[in-house]
Amino acid sequence: MAETARLSVNGVDLDLPIITGSEGEKAIDVASLRAKTGAVTLDPAFMNTASTSSAITFLDGEKGILRYRGIPIEELGEHSTFIETAYLLIYGHLPNPTEKQKFEFALTRHSMIHEDMKRFFDGFPMTAHPMAILSAMVTSLSSFYPYALDAKADEYRDITIIRLIAKLATLAAFSYKKSIGHPFMYPRNNLDYCANFMHMMFAVPAEDYVADPVAVKALNLLLILHADHEQNCSTSTVRIVGSAQTNLFASISAGICALWGPLHGGANQEVVEMLTDIKVKGLTAKQFIDQVKDKKSGVKLMGFGHRVYKNFDPRAKIIKKACDDLLIKLGIKDPMLDMAKELEEAALSDPYFIERKLYPNVDFYSGIIYRALGIPTQMFTVMFALGRLPGWIAHWKEMMEDASTKIGRPRQVYTGPTLNHYVPLDKRA
Ligand code: CMC
Repeated sequence: MAETARLSVNGVDLDLPIITGSEGEKAIDVASLRAKTGAVTLDPAFMNTASTSSAITFLDGEKGILRYRGIPIEELGEHSTFIETAYLLIYGHLPNPTEKQKFEFALTRHSMIHEDMKRFFDGFPMTAHPMAILSAMVTSLSSFYPYALDAKADEYRDITIIRLIAKLATLAAFSYKKSIGHPFMYPRNNLDYCANFMHMMFAVPAEDYVADPVAVKALNLLLILHADHEQNCSTSTVRIVGSAQTNLFASISAGICALWGPLHGGANQEVVEMLTDIKVKGLTAKQFIDQVKDKKSGVKLMGFGHRVYKNFDPRAKIIKKACDDLLIKLGIKDPMLDMAKELEEAALSDPYFIERKLYPNVDFYSGIIYRALGIPTQMFTVMFALGRLPGWIAHWKEMMEDASTKIGRPRQVYTGPTLNHYVPLDKRA
């Protein structure tokens, strides 16, 4: 017999169906609640609410497990490439050799942006945050591909996905070039995705440039680890915007804006700024941790804590090791890494962090790798966006292809004034 959960509201007894996920997690289906009882559920910040069913990513925050389409990220990080992982997330299986070759070929063929778009960059100040440029440019893409405006038109879906993945790297690199006043470097079709991105970021027309394969490998790994994280803030944003049948470019642009926040993807920039600040002020790890514990200070240990992980974030474990390996291979000694390790050690042995189950998250060490790759701090969240793009696309596509999708529209519990009447201006106090 199907499992149910009994709920009594105002004398009405309901047997609500319990839905079981493929990994055994349980959810009480409350869809009929309001119609049968007049009541709604209240769960601010979705602490306890599954907004959808999804077959893309499995995450167990208690055990520290993360799998894309069933495959552990540890395996993908070791054996896959970012583009292969993107295919896996979006199409549900690892590509066979023909699918892989076709996907990679299409991505290189669509990496240029319309020449007119280059002029858009002129309108931004040199100091513009690259996330502002990125979100604006991604929305602007929809003006160049009008047939992509029909989100339900599945005949254009694959080419729109290809265009977006291919062009996001170009837009990201151009936003960096704009900030330093360098000429834009056009994409190169003979390079794979990550090597091409490094080329667009760091090459200049006056010299030859070959990306260091060690750096390209590290970039691939970071992008794989960021590629999806089920219903996080930006992905939920993409889903809610897309649920209005909004086109892919506009939905992803909204996701980029959500990611920008310091509690989400913006934390990677905040971590390095925090480490710099600690160095500048000459604080010890213990002194900084004491400030964090003092709630009145308003200081947080950025890159620590997670809504879902109450154990080690598996991505942080891989990134920490990759960070050590990369700095050794590139012969870099970064004092930020030493400070980050000291902070981690101090936090993990402190009751404040132990009791609250606060561990380093994906953003704690990633910035140190980006620094080693020569990527400036302001670009860190852009790097996160590049990585998260396949996940956003996979969720948008999954939702569009699900015939039962309805527009996302939460309820509220109204707490404002009860019926009140209009008072003419001359009668108001
Ligand atoms: N430093 C100090 N205290 C913290 C931290 C932190 N980084 N994170 C959580 N806490 C405390 C928090 O003050 C609260 O304490 P109390 O129970 O005394 O009120 C308790 O731990 C529970 O935290 P919460 O803020 O209620 O948890 P949440 O699930 O709402 O927030 C979070 C999760 C990630 C926003 C939060 O941990 C945080 O602000 N971390 C720092 C920012 C950060 O690193 N964000 C990146 C998240 S991972 C990548 C991504 O999603 O993009």
